[in-house]
Order: sequence, then C-alpha cells, then structure tokens
Amino acid sequence: MARRRKIYEGKAKVLFEGPEPGTIVQYFKDDATAFNNQKQGVITGKGVLNNRISEFLMMRLSETGIPTHFVRRLNMREQLVKEVEIIPIEVVVRNMAAGSFSERFKMEEGTPLPRSIVEYYYKNDELGDPLVTEEHITAFGWANPPEIDDMLSLSLRINDFLSGLFMGVGLRLVDFKLEYGRLYKDDQVRIVLADEITPDGCRLWDMKTNEKMDKDRFRRDMGSVAEAYQEVARRLGILPELGPRDLRAPLTLHDAAQ
Ligand code: TMP
Ligand code: ASP
Repeated sequence: MARRRKIYEGKAKVLFEGPEPGTIVQYFKDDATAFNNQKQGVITGKGVLNNRISEFLMMRLSETGIPTHFVRRLNMREQLVKEVEIIPIEVVVRNMAAGSFSERFKMEEGTPLPRSIVEYYYKNDELGDPLVTEEHITAFGWANPPEIDDMLSLSLRINDFLSGLFMGVGLRLVDFKLEYGRLYKDDQVRIVLADEITPDGCRLWDMKTNEKMDKDRFRRDMGSVAEAYQEVARRLGILPELGPRDLRAPLTLHDAAQ
C-alpha cells in the first residue's frame, strides 16, 4: 500500500488521508495516556482490540439508526471512516457516580444516579478539558443549539442501547465519552457519531464482581489492563477471530499499515 499522508496524531490514534476524498483512515495505537497526558504507557494489543470493539459497537449502533462516521474495518489496526469536522466537545454520559464526578460531588463510586446525566467538556489539552455548559458552547461558537440538541438526544439513545448491550454480556456501563462531527454532503450538514467507542473512553464494571474492565486499570495502576480489554472483546463475541500473535505490538506504524 502506498504511503499515505498523516493528517493528525493523537494520544491513542493516528489519522491518515483515506483512499477516496471525504474518507480518513483511523490507525489505533497501543499507546495509552491518562490525566491529560501526565501518565503515559503502552498496553500491548490495545490498538487491535479497540479497532474491533469500536467497529462492533459502531455497527450495532448504526443498525439501530444512529448515524456514525464508521465505514469499514480495513485491517487489524485500521478502519475507514467518513471525514467529518470534529465538534470540540466531549459528551460524557453517566449512569453511576465514578471518576471526576465522584470527586466533584463527594459521592462514592458506584452510587446510582437519579437519572442518566449528560455533561459537556471542551476538548482542549492546554486547559485540561474543562467542564462547560451549553452557554459556553453556543457563546464561543463550538456548536449551535440544534447541534447540541442532536448530540444530547443521540447520546441518550446510545446510552440506552449500549447499557442494554453490555448488560447482556454481564457488564455495567457506568459512564462513557462520545465525540461528534459535522458530515457535509451536498448542501446539507448533519451530526454523526465520530471518534471511537472503546474501553479507553468507557467505564465498564463486571456486574457480578464490580471488577473494572476499562482504562481505569491503567489510570490507577491496577494491572491486567490488556487482559481486561480482551475480556470485553471476548464477551462481545469478537475475540475468537483474533489469535495471540495478532495482539503483539507492530514493529513500526508503517509495517502495521501494510
Ligand atoms: P471522568 O470521570 O474522568 O470525567 O471520565 C468520565 C468518562 O469519560 C470515563 O468513562 C472516561 C471518559 N473520558 C475520556 O474518554 N477522555 C477523557 O479525557 C476523560 C477525562 C474522560
Ligand atoms: N485521555 C485523557 C488523557 O490522556 C484522559 C483520560 O482518559 O484519563 O489524558
């Protein structure tokens, strides 16, 4: 495959120009960061697992009528997606208190919330992704009111669907983060789900043991991080296709892109 132009390199993914106009290739790395890049590490095999997990979840969501950027998986670490203009907002949906919410409200992790709570964070590393309100989003022009309405209603539908899907495999969806993009087609713009849905941006707890099966294992130095991601993939029924060799780190980014 010819070398492709790198468009952007983030903490966990690299974006390349896609084969046709209006497409992007998302390459999933094994790199992990936490606390706004203060903690860095490698979770061997994470990229391969996240590529599969995000493919699976985006496809299931799309079948239920949620518009997404996902087109198809290309290989072990890459997927083709539609090019969108990313809205610089992280939409977090919470079903139970955990993480920063537990700290902010002095609420024990795992405390059920009266209803699902949606929060918005401004995507800005320098500022440490601050919590913002609709007022900030509209005043600074990050998104307009109809776009915020779309993101809110899609996020709640995604939460209902994914909570049920994970419950079916014995996992509790405690909270998760979504990103959206503007998809331009002809004269129309619409909001679609973008980025990824993986254990990097979700809290997933085993329903029987409350064991954490997500990136908190890395954030909190709990060990067995790759094993937890593998177990999530196994429960979703997508691990059998992968052999142990497939989860090894690639030699270089370019080798893996072949
Ligand atoms: P928080 O409790 O740290 O605010 O995180 C809430 C959820 O959002 C959790 O599932 C992890 C996810 N998340 C990200 O994906 N990226 C981020 O930068 C942060 C802060 C959280
Ligand atoms: N992904 C964010 C970071 O790298 C925060 C997190 O997931 O904890 O810093």
